[in-house]
Amino acid sequence: MKILLLGSGGREHALALKLTSAAGAVDLVSAPGSDALGELGACVSLDLEAPAAVAAWCAAHRPDLVVVGPEVPLVAGVGDAVRALGIPVFGHDAATARLEGSKAFAKAFMARHGIPCAASHTVTDLAAGEALIEGWAHGFPIVLKADGLAAGKGVVLAPDKAEALRTFRAFMAGQFGEASRTVVFEAPLVGMELSLHVLVDVDARHAAYAMLPACQDHKRIFEGDRGPNTGGMGAFGPIPFLRPEDVERMRRDLVEPTVRGLQKDGLTARGVLFLGVMWTASGPELLEYNVRFGDPETQVLMQLLDEDLAGLLMEVAEGRFRARDLKVKPHTAITVVLAAEDYPEGAKKEVPITVGAPAVTLIHAGTRKQNGQWVTNGGRVMNLAASAPDLTAARAAVLEALGEVGWSGMQVRRDIGLKALAHAQAGKTVQDPW
Ligand code: AMP
Ligand code: GLY
Repeated sequence: MKILLLGSGGREHALALKLTSAAGAVDLVSAPGSDALGELGACVSLDLEAPAAVAAWCAAHRPDLVVVGPEVPLVAGVGDAVRALGIPVFGHDAATARLEGSKAFAKAFMARHGIPCAASHTVTDLAAGEALIEGWAHGFPIVLKADGLAAGKGVVLAPDKAEALRTFRAFMAGQFGEASRTVVFEAPLVGMELSLHVLVDVDARHAAYAMLPACQDHKRIFEGDRGPNTGGMGAFGPIPFLRPEDVERMRRDLVEPTVRGLQKDGLTARGVLFLGVMWTASGPELLEYNVRFGDPETQVLMQLLDEDLAGLLMEVAEGRFRARDLKVKPHTAITVVLAAEDYPEGAKKEVPITVGAPAVTLIHAGTRKQNGQWVTNGGRVMNLAASAPDLTAARAAVLEALGEVGWSGMQVRRDIGLKALAHAQAGKTVQDPW
């Protein structure tokens, strides 16, 4: 099977390792790819924001399947353009990708379909937003979200009205261009955040989905959840204290209304939805939709999934997925991100990396090969990922492997999964304060 994989980061390397490790032969082409992806197949230089360019390559090379990693090409309409050629795409149409591409659209969808989420106001006018902040009565922090894609930087939790005003004015002045000239204000939700991935195959005649194990990401740069936000410094799953009835509750309250809502609204879905969930005192509430796999959650999920990935993604892409429980190893998986010096403000590049022989999976995210030597080439540089019968053993496996990989200035959190482990060991459930 010839597969074109769009993207170049850790998520894509994890997908590529899984795709190429299966028994059936996969002929992988990545765009733009990376030196690490180049070890698993060919790489081609394509502008992922240009649907016509991706479609032109596909028309000439006729891949059997296109798998889209990041959200930007989906929002730009790459899925629509390639599907128009009759080539199956694992990745949503632009209309459905608005669930991530427009926070206002996503909130309206949630409201329309009765999906529990934070109270919100969408504002497109400076004076109206300033008045909203002045009279704010939903508690602090005030959550401000740029409507459009802002590379993960468009959500600000403002501790007081003055900070909210500053942020709002910067947004309206075009801090993220058009993306921040519409602003969603939200009431703060308090609780435990988790990442829920659902494969979805929905059209007018058919609606099928399958939930993947819930994961937990660690957003802050430093141990103990301190310091600035990052794209994610490590993740694990499933969450040890999440009971089957808790997962059922998320299915009933969040997933089923989402799938029914897509169908009612006439939206086609052929990919994954990653629900950002806050488990509050009153149960699970939806923070956001992403229309792609999470990074680093994918590095966890690929350790757990016991399916032929190419075949599974093809079923969804061709609209012939039938709801079933996916085969998942009875394990806990974990990934730890190895980040560059200066991340997340910047990323020190071209630092030589020492790679020994880790006994776990080594995933490349921001690396490059220079004269035969791996060097840093991004903020999140590599991941180590492992699975084991439980979280304690999985943690031990990656922590031990940390000795095998390193460079000067490398940043790593050694506490991935530790808070959840303590919560579980204390006999607490998801209902207890986090
Ligand atoms: P989003 O991109 O909408 O998920 O927001 C990014 C991050 O901001 C989330 O992962 C949460 O940690 C946080 N966040 C978003 N919305 C809220 C909210 N209403 N209350 C508290 N935290 C939030
Ligand atoms: N790990 C969070 C994300 O991929 O958005």
